Amino acid sequence: MKIHKHLSGIKEGWDLMSSNYQATSDISLKDIHYSPLSYGEKSAKLIGEVAGKKYLELGCGGAQNSIALAKLGAYVTAVDISSNQLSHAACTCERLDISVNLLQANIQNLNYFADDEFDGIISIFALEFIEDIDIFFSESNRILKKGGALIISTTHPLGAFEWDNESKNLLVTDYFNPPMEIWREQGQMNHGVTYFRTIEELFSRITNNGFVVTKLTEPKPLDPQNENLSPYKGNYWTEFRDRLNMVPFAVVIKAIKN
Ligand SMILES: C[S@@+](CC[C@H](N)C(=O)[O-])C[C@H]1O[C@@H](n2cnc3c(N)ncnc32)[C@H](O)[C@@H]1O
Repeated sequence: MKIHKHLSGIKEGWDLMSSNYQATSDISLKDIHYSPLSYGEKSAKLIGEVAGKKYLELGCGGAQNSIALAKLGAYVTAVDISSNQLSHAACTCERLDISVNLLQANIQNLNYFADDEFDGIISIFALEFIEDIDIFFSESNRILKKGGALIISTTHPLGAFEWDNESKNLLVTDYFNPPMEIWREQGQMNHGVTYFRTIEELFSRITNNGFVVTKLTEPKPLDPQNENLSPYKGNYWTEFRDRLNMVPFAVVIKAIKN
């Protein structure tokens, strides 16, 4: 099996960040989110009817999206590598008496699931932590039913670059080779990383692995007067509003298994 070089650093980093991330992002359980300060599924309408269907969330974190899907009547399995993120998810499920099948595993390879097992897959802000996304997409394709949708949101390639000191200009050095971000939480033994991919690379890797891309968006933040429609309720993201108004934070892609 192909090794994921930075997996232990990423897991350790998310275990350390989890409680602060969950407290400050305060992600809504009422709608499926795709990007900070932007509209969620109620406006985006990417998923459609889920009642009675089998859904999978990959890199679920606190499983807010899985919980929102379960509330709509889906049978949901949610996978994450971080035990602390999954503990947060488990506490929320218990508090709300919502049933989500939580699983601790690496989502780069999904060989623990059967062929054609799911009606739909959703993965929001997890792909950027996966080293080999060909395996991720081919495995997602294998476990989806024919005609099933994979919905991905991942960090925009322009997020790889630094802003100038006044946060006015983004210093794009080489768009075609976005740098990998290396991060280390306080007390962390191994460093974690974020991988950035150009839009062309994302598109090619998805379509080369048996999918047809039916929608691709770069969501803008909602106007401040409509901010209540954003599934992110915490103030962690609002300080980045000016930047997010200039450069998209996420690329959201809907792809259908051929
Ligand atoms: C930014 S959080 C997003 C969580 C959730 N999808 C959301 O939108 O709130 C990224 C999550 O991906 C998980 N993750 C990163 N790499 C992973 C891997 N290889 N396998 C499973 N989970 C992974 C992290 O533990 C973390 O919980």
